[in-house]
Amino acid sequence: MNQSSKDNSDSSTNPAILVDNLTVSYGPVPALLDVSFKVPAGQLIGIIGPNGSGKSTLIKAILGFLKPDFGTVYLFGEPAAHAKGRVAYVPQRGSVDWDFPVSVQEVVLMGRYGHVPWWKNLGQQEWQLADDALEMVRMSHYRKRQIGELSGGQQQRVFMARAMAQGADILLLDEPFAGVDAATERAILDVLEQTKQAGKTLLVVHHDLTTAAEYFDALILLKQRLYAFGSPEAVLHRRLLSEVYEGSLRIFSDLSQTTKNS
Ligand SMILES: Nc1ncnc2c1ncn2[C@@H]1O[C@H](COP(=O)(O)OP(=O)(O)O)[C@@H](O)[C@H]1O
Ligand SMILES: [Mg+2]
Repeated sequence: MNQSSKDNSDSSTNPAILVDNLTVSYGPVPALLDVSFKVPAGQLIGIIGPNGSGKSTLIKAILGFLKPDFGTVYLFGEPAAHAKGRVAYVPQRGSVDWDFPVSVQEVVLMGRYGHVPWWKNLGQQEWQLADDALEMVRMSHYRKRQIGELSGGQQQRVFMARAMAQGADILLLDEPFAGVDAATERAILDVLEQTKQAGKTLLVVHHDLTTAAEYFDALILLKQRLYAFGSPEAVLHRRLLSEVYEGSLRIFSDLSQTTKNS
């Protein structure tokens, strides 16, 4: 038997995301400098790092919204530009204009437009896919509501439903837990886990170090450069964190102190 035969074009053998020597700048100082890592398919990965460390920039560069100064992003072995339909994005909440008069159902259906030729109306099957996605995030009851009338956590779930309806293999989420209550956080985490069980790859910007180990298979620690990438136990290392978070980590240890004393 010839064991050395390889087929590099088979997407199942390629990492879902391969970031290779990525440098991205807005001005003279790079927001990301020489970042390289790869994510196998089917993993739930957290991106952590202090404010301004380049987390959102990394997500936008993987999406192709930002042009790198240097380096390349490959999705399933293809340059990212060729794999656009395989990636869905759930934006940071503050970045969306909620006054836009559109219903929950319409937001989710927008995820299907790329799949339907422009001369056709969305058919029964498209509506069904949108309904299934809303069911998954437990938002079916709200399908007729205006998106602007929902709470932050509900809006987040609708955007997850849209990403799901899009049929993407990779989901990129920017701080999905920011500003939501504990019950909503649990509901969103359930959806992330179900999505992972369905074989999708998820990259999630996360700001809470106290839950990072519980939520994610692996973590990316970023501050302009990639400081660490690996198991939560390896990345959430005291010395590493104090180097990256500097003064702000004191808040974190004060918190654990408070819990111990109470
Ligand atoms: N549109 C922009 N124009 C100029 N600088 C930006 C822009 N977006 C982000 N930056 C800068 O790039 C760095 C990384 O930002 P960002 O990726 O948003 O960090 P994070 O998401 O980790 O908070 C920061 O110094 C930020 O000020
Ligand atoms: Mg950000």
